[in-house]
Amino acid sequence: MKLAGMVARLGPDRLAGQITLLILGAIVTFQTIVLVAFHLLDVEGRRHIVDQTDFVASIILAVDAAPMEERQHLLSEFAHAVPFANIHIEGERPQAVALDNWEFANEIRAIHSDLWEKAEVFAASAPDGRNSGVLAVGLRKGGYALISIYQHRKPPRSVWRWFWQPEPGTPFFLTPWALSAILFFLCTTILVVWASDGIVAPLVKLAKHAEQFPDRGEGDELLAERGPTEVRELTRSINRMQDRIRTMIAARSQVLAAVSHDLKTIITRLNLRTELVSEPHLRDKMLHDISLMDAMLRKNLEHLRAESDRADYSLIDIDSVLQTVADQFVDLGYRVRYRGGDRYMILGSLTEMQRVFNNLVENAIHHAGAVEIEARQTGVDRLQIDVIDNGPGIPDDQKATIFEPFVRGEPGRTISNHSGFGLGLSIVRSLVEHHGGAVALLDHKPHGLIVRVVLPLQNGVVASS
Ligand SMILES: Nc1ncnc2c1ncn2[C@@H]1O[C@H](COP(=O)(O)OP(=O)(O)OP(=O)(O)O)[C@@H](O)[C@H]1O
Ligand SMILES: [Mg+2]
Repeated sequence: MKLAGMVARLGPDRLAGQITLLILGAIVTFQTIVLVAFHLLDVEGRRHIVDQTDFVASIILAVDAAPMEERQHLLSEFAHAVPFANIHIEGERPQAVALDNWEFANEIRAIHSDLWEKAEVFAASAPDGRNSGVLAVGLRKGGYALISIYQHRKPPRSVWRWFWQPEPGTPFFLTPWALSAILFFLCTTILVVWASDGIVAPLVKLAKHAEQFPDRGEGDELLAERGPTEVRELTRSINRMQDRIRTMIAARSQVLAAVSHDLKTIITRLNLRTELVSEPHLRDKMLHDISLMDAMLRKNLEHLRAESDRADYSLIDIDSVLQTVADQFVDLGYRVRYRGGDRYMILGSLTEMQRVFNNLVENAIHHAGAVEIEARQTGVDRLQIDVIDNGPGIPDDQKATIFEPFVRGEPGRTISNHSGFGLGLSIVRSLVEHHGGAVALLDHKPHGLIVRVVLPLQNGVVASS
């Protein structure tokens, strides 16, 4: 899981991926430039190998070029000048040996290329611990030069050789340079991912936070400032912006609430005065309009409260809330039945829960003749409440959008014939989510709607009545 997350973070459109690519690109470019420069300038590492084979090749060339009678003299001079090299001449062709020492084989190949065409160069014996093997060369004037070199080497630049002269037959991905390249990429990538986490993680958190705001819940807290300076500054700005937005929303709600409250007083006055209108037809129309205004105002206030109010929570018995809501509608002559009976305790606000189920039952009786409310415990700490009706239901394509404020099922209808304001379900969702729950719309067979509210149940306080 963690590895998968790490790999996903390396996508080319991700910040971590781009940082990784940038750093890898920079290192590879730098390394290439250094390698090319080394090659062109022929510096230290390369020269050592060339020196060694050059040295042997020049001895051979000198011995080969010397007249036969000078050979012995020349050899004694060599023995004097380079005591670590043992050179002697034999008339008979020495026995060639097969070589499994790749280093020696590479040297023979290099020396061969420095000599005359079709020179006969081979190993007469394999290297042992003390010498670098015996090299035999067929001389053009006859005889064979046998050369072995003792302790002539400077400490070999083993990394360099290991790097560039792989053992023959090694598969590509196991050649030293391929291995070191893989290792290099692996190490760099892990380091970069680890380092970029410090930059990327706060940004991701910031994006999630901004996404949630101004929903209720986690998005409300200020975000801790961490990460590099730029990210910290961004976090600070977003925190400030969040503060300003919250103040603005609160101010707007306050103004609306104040205006609505004043309007209510005016509506009450208007209502009283309308009663005095003598023309009955006109009076009825006016009273209808006034009641519509009143309903609209009440719903809007309810919506505002659901959006911004933070009611005090306490342990409430949802069973009695549902029973009360059902009874109220029954008293008004509607067919509403509640099936429950267990004392389900939740942590929440009594008035907000009443508002939730009032809205749902109101919707159901508006669209259907009879309403059933069922409550039961699902899982250890979940309470599921279904408000079921046998009305027309809501088509699947509308289920997602119907929760938005001011969205109504039949937009063709106008407010004046009072089909509702489209605020009920939005209020329900706000309040339920505020209580840590969720609402879903399901189909009731053969027709009708089930509004399923799931709320967190308080453990250990469920008791059968
Ligand atoms: N039980 C239901 N059966 C069928 N359709 C429903 C039901 N409940 C809601 N709807 C549809 O969802 C729409 C939105 O419902 P919502 O409660 O948000 O608004 P409203 O009832 O139209 O108005 P308000 O509740 O603000 O007075 C409704 O207009 C209606 O079309
Ligand atoms: Mg409604």
